[in-house]
Amino acid sequence: MSIIAIDGSSATGKGTLCSKLAQVFDYAYLDTGALYRGVGYELLKNGFSPNDENKAIEIAKSLSGEKMLHLQDESVIRTEEYGKAASIVSAFPGVRKALFEFQRRFAQNPVKKDGAIAQGAVLDGRDIGTVICPDAEYKIFLTARPEIRAERRFKELQLKGLCVIYEDVLSDILARDKRDSERTTAPLKPADDAFILDTSDLTADDVYAQVVCFIQERNQKVPQTRLGGQF
Ligand code: DC
Repeated sequence: MSIIAIDGSSATGKGTLCSKLAQVFDYAYLDTGALYRGVGYELLKNGFSPNDENKAIEIAKSLSGEKMLHLQDESVIRTEEYGKAASIVSAFPGVRKALFEFQRRFAQNPVKKDGAIAQGAVLDGRDIGTVICPDAEYKIFLTARPEIRAERRFKELQLKGLCVIYEDVLSDILARDKRDSERTTAPLKPADDAFILDTSDLTADDVYAQVVCFIQERNQKVPQTRLGGQF
């Protein structure tokens, strides 16, 4: 089973890269951030604080495999509010423990959206290369300057028709980075053997091309024809 582990902060280009890799390699894709967002969403929706550790653990434990698999397709969890709640609940070791097994199983038996078993998996998150799949064949860690990430997120939110202030977006990004990288359990950090790529000044096509080069260097057997294509 071939596993591509993609980690990094928000707005570094992980989602776009993962979708492209999964499509070209015909691998199953799991956006693990959706699991934490799902817990944050259920908490807030039911009137609880994202800081309510016991409730967060209870919710994480109650999520069925089927529910976890489909969370990534739910657009309602994609707001800044649920992103922040996800970051808070993800610091609770009990929440991480409750979501661990599902992620590990997905990596070992990846199932595509159409239900077919895939030859490999692309997982994106914060701790894929370090905790969930430490034996992954390919580990990639994306970074980008906070100002660039804030600008990307700012434009994204504006396109959605939301009235946002750039400075607020930047301070939210910095606060999330701090929480995600300073927590004691599975903090955001690159695995020792990860390929670290700064996407600040790269287009999505550049990022894809550089990651494919890294994969090719690791495994000369990957057929060229499956690696081409633009976004
Ligand atoms: O990738 P995202 O923005 O959807 O993630 C939301 C939050 O979930 C992120 O701030 C930290 C947490 N997260 C995590 O702790 N571990 C993961 N593997 C994925 C996400």
